[in-house]
Amino acid sequence: MCGIVGIIGTDPVSDRLFEGLKRLEYRGYDSAGIATIVDGRIDRRRAKGKLANLAERLREEPLPGTVGIAHTRWATHGAPTTGNAHPHATDEVAIVHNGIIENFRPLRQELEARGRTLTSETDSEVVAHLVSEAIEAGKHPREAVAAVLPRLHGAFAIAMLFPRYPDLIIGARQGAPLTVGYGEGENFLGSDAHALASLTQRIAYLDEGDWAVVERDSVQIYDRDNAPVERPIVHSGASAALVDKGNHRHFMQKEIYEQPMVVAQTLKSYLRPLEEQVALPDMAFDLAGIERVAIIACGTASYVGMIGKYWIEQFARLPVEVDVASEFRYRDPVLLPGTLGIVVSQSGETADTLAALRHMKQANVTTAGIINVPTSSMAREVDLLLPTHAGPEIGVASTKAFTCQLSVMAALAVNLARAKGRLSAADEAEIVRHLIEAPAALNEALAHDAEIEAMAHTVAAARDVLYLGRGPDYPLALEGALKLKEISYIHAEGYASGEMKHGPIALIDDNVPLIVLAPSGPLFDKTVSNMKEAQARGAQVVLISDADGIASAGEDAVATIEMPRVHPLIAPLVYAVPVQLLAYHVAVAKGTDVDQPRNLAKSVTVE
Ligand code: G6P
Repeated sequence: MCGIVGIIGTDPVSDRLFEGLKRLEYRGYDSAGIATIVDGRIDRRRAKGKLANLAERLREEPLPGTVGIAHTRWATHGAPTTGNAHPHATDEVAIVHNGIIENFRPLRQELEARGRTLTSETDSEVVAHLVSEAIEAGKHPREAVAAVLPRLHGAFAIAMLFPRYPDLIIGARQGAPLTVGYGEGENFLGSDAHALASLTQRIAYLDEGDWAVVERDSVQIYDRDNAPVERPIVHSGASAALVDKGNHRHFMQKEIYEQPMVVAQTLKSYLRPLEEQVALPDMAFDLAGIERVAIIACGTASYVGMIGKYWIEQFARLPVEVDVASEFRYRDPVLLPGTLGIVVSQSGETADTLAALRHMKQANVTTAGIINVPTSSMAREVDLLLPTHAGPEIGVASTKAFTCQLSVMAALAVNLARAKGRLSAADEAEIVRHLIEAPAALNEALAHDAEIEAMAHTVAAARDVLYLGRGPDYPLALEGALKLKEISYIHAEGYASGEMKHGPIALIDDNVPLIVLAPSGPLFDKTVSNMKEAQARGAQVVLISDADGIASAGEDAVATIEMPRVHPLIAPLVYAVPVQLLAYHVAVAKGTDVDQPRNLAKSVTVE
């Protein structure tokens, strides 16, 4: 999960390549590099760490050249060092690579047996050497690439330049996205439309197995059988403006605060307030024919799937299975006729979720996707796209995408329930009224920010933290623990309240804060009983509930965070706010890198 940009132009390219990398930093930020052709030779600047280090390197030693490729890396094979940073090069070729060459070991052994010296620990460098060998043997780069691509197993997007052939760059894709951008007298390659947004709006998405020879005035795309093919040139619509933090200290904070607005925007396209109905985009299949649901996602999006299970089973009475995408495909799931396969993804590019989607499509399962990036691979491949309108999410830890995904999941659950004849018009109207209230309730939740900031120190000092919830608030407990782990590096676990006495209660002592998510409602008393069991053993409870809940159960808590009183349906959306703010303030108190936490990437495009 790295980012790629390539430019073949007539003006110097390194500034524009660097600008493209800034847009791709969400894919990885442990090292970066640029290669261009200077006086018939490859010249490179590479730097370990964030892009600022590469910028410094370029300031020290500017990089001329009108043909270039660039890369921002999230290390898979080989530590994040300057030596492992891309581009990798020989005298004949420089390459940047996103993905994993799964057979790199035998290829490397084969190359070394032929006397070649590889200088990095990466899987990617073998590609440079294989292509280089073919060119050294007299092949044109086009033929060299055509000969090497079938030898590579795994998922990859690659861009290459050739110092003896300065009039072309070549890109190839298999299992990782790559787009071609069309300019005036110059052309581009990029991991996504967003990377190319300030260079061009005219782009073509390469299909699986495609590769492209990109010259200044022409682009020729080939399919996996090396037959010339045309791919439609479309208007990307990606915004050229770089998103900024506004008045906020971090993107994550800004994105938490955007939630009332983006949830309202998202719900607007799914609710008909006058008719008090929920509506989905037009679809080519009948929801009434759906007999069961499989929801697949990774990370935060998978908790949306778990909450969706509660809602779809409750309202539509359809059985729902939820899988993390990395487990789904390899356990050979039973996919019966009548299944609706739903993928949930902010980026629409997460490799495991995309692979799960393709697995379901191959099994003739009807698919829907709750996706934030409308130009993404998943958005283009699902049968029914259910967009979230969260706007670009920059902070690595997902926040506003989560609440927007929940909003769409609620709309989908209601539609399924109506299609299955399980929901009266009056019940639907009531749900619509509650959903309409969600943005205002999110605003009320945000109003408690200062209190949360004030009590964050009780959590910041802890080594372990437990989160408890029941029903749809159980996945939210998992999300709370994930948020805290991701950005504050404190070990945290989420548990279903009733499960606590089956193990985690053994961890309880007065150094382990217990964050209890307990909105008033049918499950409140049960959760409070579990909380009391922990308090009896010395647990330091932080109770997140509404005024009634705090009045009846908050007296022994070390801290309480008051939420507005909301219908249980929208409680997971509203209670997401304190969970996010708590993680945020703890991370700020600890001084960690909130927007780009160590070892993580926003979009995980490798398995
Ligand atoms: C990464 C991100 C998470 C995100 C997950 C799934 O792990 O750091 O914030 O929830 O990927 O990403 P997706 O784009 O598929 O929602």
